[in-house]
Amino acid sequence: MADLQALQQQFKEWYGEEGAVPIRIFHAPGRVNLIGEHTDYNGGYVFPAALTFGTMMLIRKRDDGQVGLASTNFPLRKHISISNLTFDPADDWMNYPKGIIHELQQRGLSVGGYDILFSGAIPNGSGLSSSASLEVVTAFGLLTMEGQPTDKVDIALLSQKVENEFIGVKCGIMDQFAVAMGKKDHAILLMCDTLEYKHVPFQGGAYKLVIGNTNKKRGLVDSAYNERRAQCERAVRDLQAQFPELSLLGQLTLEQFSTYQHLIKDEVVRKRAKHVVEEIDRVLQSMNVLEKNDLEAFGRLMVASHESLRDLYEVTCLELDVMVEEILKIPGVLGSRMTGAGFGGCTVSLVHEDAVAQLIEQVGRVYNEKTGLTADFYVCDIGDGVKEIEA
Ligand code: GLA
Repeated sequence: MADLQALQQQFKEWYGEEGAVPIRIFHAPGRVNLIGEHTDYNGGYVFPAALTFGTMMLIRKRDDGQVGLASTNFPLRKHISISNLTFDPADDWMNYPKGIIHELQQRGLSVGGYDILFSGAIPNGSGLSSSASLEVVTAFGLLTMEGQPTDKVDIALLSQKVENEFIGVKCGIMDQFAVAMGKKDHAILLMCDTLEYKHVPFQGGAYKLVIGNTNKKRGLVDSAYNERRAQCERAVRDLQAQFPELSLLGQLTLEQFSTYQHLIKDEVVRKRAKHVVEEIDRVLQSMNVLEKNDLEAFGRLMVASHESLRDLYEVTCLELDVMVEEILKIPGVLGSRMTGAGFGGCTVSLVHEDAVAQLIEQVGRVYNEKTGLTADFYVCDIGDGVKEIEA
């Protein structure tokens, strides 16, 4: 966690001392998805967990109705007027807090004025939900400052709406939900259609979750992501010949899918749908094996998930595949897969604590030889969702 005192100092340097008005501090984590990838917007199950690192937000009231936005991660900082907020590419990262303020205003809340400093510990574009973290911390912080209710599921939905409509990325609910609703040492089993959820204790014992960042910048991720969504919708339309009521692939059982998959005309679309239906089933299988604390079986499901994302859904890339392949060569690794949207970003692996050092050294070296990129590894703990931090 960032040094709070240093951040407060930075805040005062940029915004001034301002006497008795207190600075309050909020934090939202990043997230890692353990299994259930590209299932959320299909109304299926996901199994993410919140990280212990994320985005800090320091905020202090000001009187003139303006909102000051600054970040320790980016040079761009300014005071914005908050009437008529619209997306502006030149505003870069500020579009996220702008979108949240806009959405709160749409709900009839008059926001402002505030000085705000963000500080993010999640590498951007790494697939660990830095944007969801920024959205959720902004919504939670502003609602708290305004003395409004802070229902975290509602905050997740509001943040997803901002991402979908203001930013224009048609993501599902997983990231914002995990970032808002995370719980220390627990993963979240979430049914994305109904938003029913359960916090499941994640006890790895001697096995650690290790995140491997490929540091491969995700190119064209938004358009490829939206294309996958459209393909899933195509599959639903074809299957409606048999199931007129079907609205999401997640509503199909494995048996129904295997009997009627021939109705999906396009072979690529059929592969996408197969991934979704089988991946949802893998999440449920994961719950069964984790209940028995069978980590080996869970590791095998992680590997099957990666293979399906590589061969059927086709959202991995050379860097993700090389990293997973090399990680699986290390004795003491139970499973490994890409996590998040894909096309770059991170892997997540289940690794015996005695094997972590060897993994970091060996995979780091071979990965660099094969891709020319330098990987980063983090042994990760599971943390809480969004909350206020005592200054
Ligand atoms: C991104 C999206 C999520 C989800 C994952 C893939 O992280 O924001 O909604 O679709 O990709 O599982």
